[in-house]
Amino acid sequence: MNKLRTCIIGCGNIFTMHATPVLSFEDVELVGVCDIKADRAEAAGKRCNTAFYTDYRKMIAETHPDVVHVCLPHYLHPIVSREMMEQGIHVLCEKPASIRLEDTISNIELAKKQGVQYGIIFQCRYNTASKLVKQYIEDGTLGKVISARSVLTWCKPDTYYSLSDWKGTWDKEGGGVVIDQAIHSMDLVNWFIGANPVSVYAHLDNRGHEIMEVDDSAEGYIKYDNGATYGFWAMNNYGCDEPIEIRLLCEHGKAVLSYDEAIITLDDGTVIRRDQSTVDQMEYENSKKYWGSQHVTQIRQFYNSVLGKETLEISGEEALKIQKIVCAVYESSRQGKPVLFEQ
Ligand SMILES: NC(=O)c1ccc[n+]([C@@H]2O[C@H](COP(=O)([O-])OP(=O)(O)OC[C@H]3O[C@@H](n4cnc5c(N)ncnc54)[C@H](O)[C@@H]3O)[C@@H](O)[C@H]2O)c1
Repeated sequence: MNKLRTCIIGCGNIFTMHATPVLSFEDVELVGVCDIKADRAEAAGKRCNTAFYTDYRKMIAETHPDVVHVCLPHYLHPIVSREMMEQGIHVLCEKPASIRLEDTISNIELAKKQGVQYGIIFQCRYNTASKLVKQYIEDGTLGKVISARSVLTWCKPDTYYSLSDWKGTWDKEGGGVVIDQAIHSMDLVNWFIGANPVSVYAHLDNRGHEIMEVDDSAEGYIKYDNGATYGFWAMNNYGCDEPIEIRLLCEHGKAVLSYDEAIITLDDGTVIRRDQSTVDQMEYENSKKYWGSQHVTQIRQFYNSVLGKETLEISGEEALKIQKIVCAVYESSRQGKPVLFEQ
């Protein structure tokens, strides 16, 4: 069998969520891993029994991959993704696609021109609870979303920022709790609503992290062109990582989602519970519960798209939808007034 050759750039926290699935796929060979921190590159290479590098350009030149996973600080996502796609390499990039909308847009165009797949990780869409709720919205059981709300209370202590050379900075992370953590729940809700945003009115603050400069608290309100509304609240200076909670009021009932659990209550009194994942749980070393376990499902879907077996679900274009909202959240907070989207 001709295996797809894969490299991973960035051997930090999220590395294991990419390497473990890749190593489990029979049709994929991990041919190299890279981190500018030599100790991380070496540890990752030895763990995965593959070549390790501290210079990604050298790795690409020597290993000739078909696919590259970009697991880097946010500001490097568009730069490295672009470099890979220019060489005809398929790219699977961690969220967000970039900090600036224009960079994502130009990379979407480049992917089309080069005929390569450009995927962005939003693994929460692959939770069984998320998929069930989306299905019930689309098949009319729940019907369209009228109102939604999400609440995120996570714990990012000062060391989360002091031990990182990029987190907590405007230029390298591009923001804080919204662009890094709440982006997942906001993407889910935006996907459930499935309409175009009309306006975003948000307020961000840093209330508990003197050590860093970006937002650790956020609240906002989004209106959609089908009449749906979405209110979100997020903070990462809570005392522990509580499950995210999403509530949806739909035409024919309500849904409550938390991690991979959902309770759907229809107006006729029917209650549907999705409280245990039916998807195979992969064991990831050093993973965090709140990341969920569905990287493997999304990564497999990406490889199937590279092999021409499926259409890529979360492409750059799909990821651009939530990035537009995230950028509008920051802009609204800066301006202190609603930001309107061009219709
Ligand atoms: N999907 C999720 O649930 C989830 C969870 C955590 C992190 N992430 C995302 O994963 C990405 C990485 O986050 P992380 O927490 O692993 O960060 P990290 O800082 O732990 O890892 C990033 C790694 O990139 C390396 N690096 C920096 N510049 C490099 C370069 N030029 N060449 C090679 N290596 C370089 C760093 O040395 C570091 O080891 C971010 O986009 C983050 O938002 C996603």
